[in-house]
Amino acid sequence: MAEAVPAAARRRAVALRREIARHDRLYYVLDRPEVPDAAYDALMRELAELERKHPSLADANSPTRRVGGLPREGFETVRHALPMRSLENAVGKEELAAWHERVVKGLAGMTPALVVEPKLDGLAISLRYEGGRFVRGATRGDGDTGEDVTANLRTVRGLPLELEGDFPKVLEVRGEVYMARSDFRRLNAQREKAGEPCFANPRNAAAGAVRQLDSSITASRRLALAAYGLGEVAGGKVPGTQSGLLAWLKSLGFPTAGHAARCAGLDEAWMQCETLREARDDLPFDVDGAVVKVDDHGLWEALGATSRAPRWAVALKFPPEQVMTRLLSIEVQVGRTGVLTPVAVLEPVLCAGVTVRHATLHNAEQIEAKGVLLGDWIILQRAGDVIPEVVGAVESRRTGGEKPFRMPKTCPVCGSGVVKDPELIKPRCPNASCPAQLEGGLLHFAKRDAMDLAGLGDKLAHQVVAKGLVKDAADLYELTLEQWVGLDRMAEKSAANLVAQLERSRTPTLGRFLYALGIRQVGERTGKDLAEHFGSMEKLMAADEEALQKVPDVGPAVAASVRGWFAEPHNRRLVERLLERIRPQAESKRAAEGPLAGMTVVFTGAMILPRAEAKALAEAAGARVGDSVSRKTSLVVAGADAGAKLETAKRLEVKVVDEKGFLGLLGR
Ligand code: IVH
Repeated sequence: MAEAVPAAARRRAVALRREIARHDRLYYVLDRPEVPDAAYDALMRELAELERKHPSLADANSPTRRVGGLPREGFETVRHALPMRSLENAVGKEELAAWHERVVKGLAGMTPALVVEPKLDGLAISLRYEGGRFVRGATRGDGDTGEDVTANLRTVRGLPLELEGDFPKVLEVRGEVYMARSDFRRLNAQREKAGEPCFANPRNAAAGAVRQLDSSITASRRLALAAYGLGEVAGGKVPGTQSGLLAWLKSLGFPTAGHAARCAGLDEAWMQCETLREARDDLPFDVDGAVVKVDDHGLWEALGATSRAPRWAVALKFPPEQVMTRLLSIEVQVGRTGVLTPVAVLEPVLCAGVTVRHATLHNAEQIEAKGVLLGDWIILQRAGDVIPEVVGAVESRRTGGEKPFRMPKTCPVCGSGVVKDPELIKPRCPNASCPAQLEGGLLHFAKRDAMDLAGLGDKLAHQVVAKGLVKDAADLYELTLEQWVGLDRMAEKSAANLVAQLERSRTPTLGRFLYALGIRQVGERTGKDLAEHFGSMEKLMAADEEALQKVPDVGPAVAASVRGWFAEPHNRRLVERLLERIRPQAESKRAAEGPLAGMTVVFTGAMILPRAEAKALAEAAGARVGDSVSRKTSLVVAGADAGAKLETAKRLEVKVVDEKGFLGLLGR
């Protein structure tokens, strides 16, 4: 029998929850906190203590649950009651005007009022409330079905768990989950300290956090929410305009992005977009454009939608952000294959929300083509995911002290004379035991799709090479726990993890092993193809170029690269030494039968099914999974927002199905 909770305790819990929700709202929605953090924490502690003492007071929507719960196996899928569409893009004033012209035409000549909102760069989600209680949160997925991420979204502090005021019985609110730039910087700083890879941008960090199976990790990432739209509504009224909707959502307790403006027509809307663009650096979050919407929802129906996007809104994309900074010097890095790459060392500068210190310059020819000199003021550009790029020099700011850059004639790491690779036309260090190549080779060997040694990061690889502990990848298997622990900043637990990972990696699939060797032009896919075709290392090593070209997608260049690699005595020696410690396992043969037997399938676009699972399903059904679309491709599975690969498939008249169609083919 459930224990009886004293009425006073129950009343206190209710009061505490209400009080905490009020402070959350003051903080996250109204940006007007009333109490110091310590007072807020005290309320939380009191509530947590009450719930611990009286377990039957527990409630999934209690603010104490915002810290997340137990990890789950996977996410359930959710069918959206109304599809979650995407937006048509426009770049520049002309394309915005073209969209506007279509709107006016669709409204028989009427020019409607518009609303301009910032386009937050995060993850679209749908939040369902029943009777004012948060009951489910889902990702967009393919627009029709998404993933149930309720437990994760509950940890988002700004998300109201109980609504305030007058709300419909069923209310679905749509918006964006994002990470503020300050939280992003804090997260990356922490990850760097812990030796973990950093996120490229706040959007990736937010998307990663929302799709965590362990909601306590989501909780620790501090996500934010901005509401901007509606899904299903039943049993109540909602405002009839976009500007009214934003104000109403705020009154119910939802944070909005702010900076929205109602505009009389196209010119005013364009000016508002320009204002937003100029302000983007000062906003606390990343925006990749502005969304222009027809204000009156009554007109939305008349305008309608395509299967992909509504006609009543458009996303005006901002051009990549550019900033000016000084080029302090150019460092030359030596990669895994010995190629020398010049890297710009910059006066640190904030660009698109991230502090940039380095930018690749690709090669000496590019530096010359861009006319960049050492000491120059340069223009730097960063668009979304893209690695920062040096656009060119600001010649008007030259003082005369700037100097041209020359590629070194010797390797900056080992001093060997640099050679120009005739094939790649790139300068290369020819010394196979150059520490830089060795380090790069170890990191490649450790990659997740290769030997999967997550504990071996760049700092460790550098140390083991610099200390002379490791002369090739095989030596990794000889180091003892004590030796690992003896390295700088290596805790016992991390060392033990790495040793365990190394042990586990002793029986890789042959395909992974081949990929891990780092043979030029042998990626993950080709490694697997070679493994399936030859079945053993011995057979592969004995194959000549002709035999190699019998493998799917292996042409003369790949065949020559593979032969060339095995022809080098030190490479053969490495393979021998590795095989004394590692037993590659024959690739599990693809099913010769099955609904996709003999087919080559390529996946593109966003799918609900994780890509690894989709690949495994296709392979189990007899298919080979390819990376790129060619005439040899039998089937393209296109998810949401598929791009170039889908275009190619259409051009080559390759059969295309969507995710549902794909599952249908498998009889699922
Ligand atoms: S309205 C029918 N408003 O942009 C689609 N979307 O490129 C209605 N986004 O999937 C979307 N800020 O994730 C809308 N103020 C805003 C937005 C916004 C960001 C995202 C959203 C959408 C994507 C489309």
